[in-house]
Amino acid sequence: MQLIHSTLEIGLEKPLKILHVTDSHIALADERDSERKHALAKRLGAPEKELFFSEHLAYGKAHCDLLVHTGDLIDFTSQANFDFARKVLAEEKVFFAAGNHEFSQFVGEAYEDRAYKMNSFREMQPGLGAPLFFNSRVLGGVNFVAIDNSYHQFEPWQLTRLKKELAKGLPIVLCVHVPLFEQALYDYHVSRTGKGSSCYLCGCEDEDLLPDDEWRAIEIRPRGITTEMVSFIKEQELIKAVLSGHVHFSFESLLSPGMPQYVTGGGYDGTARELTIL
Ligand SMILES: [Fe+2]
Repeated sequence: MQLIHSTLEIGLEKPLKILHVTDSHIALADERDSERKHALAKRLGAPEKELFFSEHLAYGKAHCDLLVHTGDLIDFTSQANFDFARKVLAEEKVFFAAGNHEFSQFVGEAYEDRAYKMNSFREMQPGLGAPLFFNSRVLGGVNFVAIDNSYHQFEPWQLTRLKKELAKGLPIVLCVHVPLFEQALYDYHVSRTGKGSSCYLCGCEDEDLLPDDEWRAIEIRPRGITTEMVSFIKEQELIKAVLSGHVHFSFESLLSPGMPQYVTGGGYDGTARELTIL
């Protein structure tokens, strides 16, 4: 396990310690799952992934007030993965925002849209034990709000719900899977992946979508309320920080003055961030 340490000062009376974990990509299959799922588990599974997750969970429970997982806890939909996720989400100290892989049926084989996501969700009957599309929890005077933007989009009802959370008047730590667009993060992302690859951020301008990859551009291009939602979030003084993952590298920058976004690297290789909120 490799821990990154960050500190956020928002004027709390008593400090809070958060363990931010993301992108664990657990890949399991058992006798209830099909041969294709077993093949995926064989190709994508690794004992280290489970070992690192156990370490993260143990550390979070022993040393932190909350473990925030921002999605891709599992790599694909399978009965064995659902059981794993249900067990994790039943932990009192775990707070969860869904990622795209929670809804991935065979990893990268399909155009992923709302219909695909909802078919995957239906497979989870009766769900994973925690709300996957919007959730909130108040702890130590901080409102942790999780919003599913795992397909790079927000929906109008999520903006309505976010406004209700803001009306509570508490400082908010926003938890999303896909990082919100910010220029320094974008530039770093492109420098790592190279021109011509995709921009995996939420709220990219059209010219930032890298036209060499039309497939991804169609998926990622902000639709509906997404651009408005990203701008709205950046304007909210009560939103004190954003936690996100998805890109599998760690990065810290400001979305707007006083609003850091902590992108944390993949939990599958042991990375986690210990965030002290003061
Ligand atoms: Fe992801």
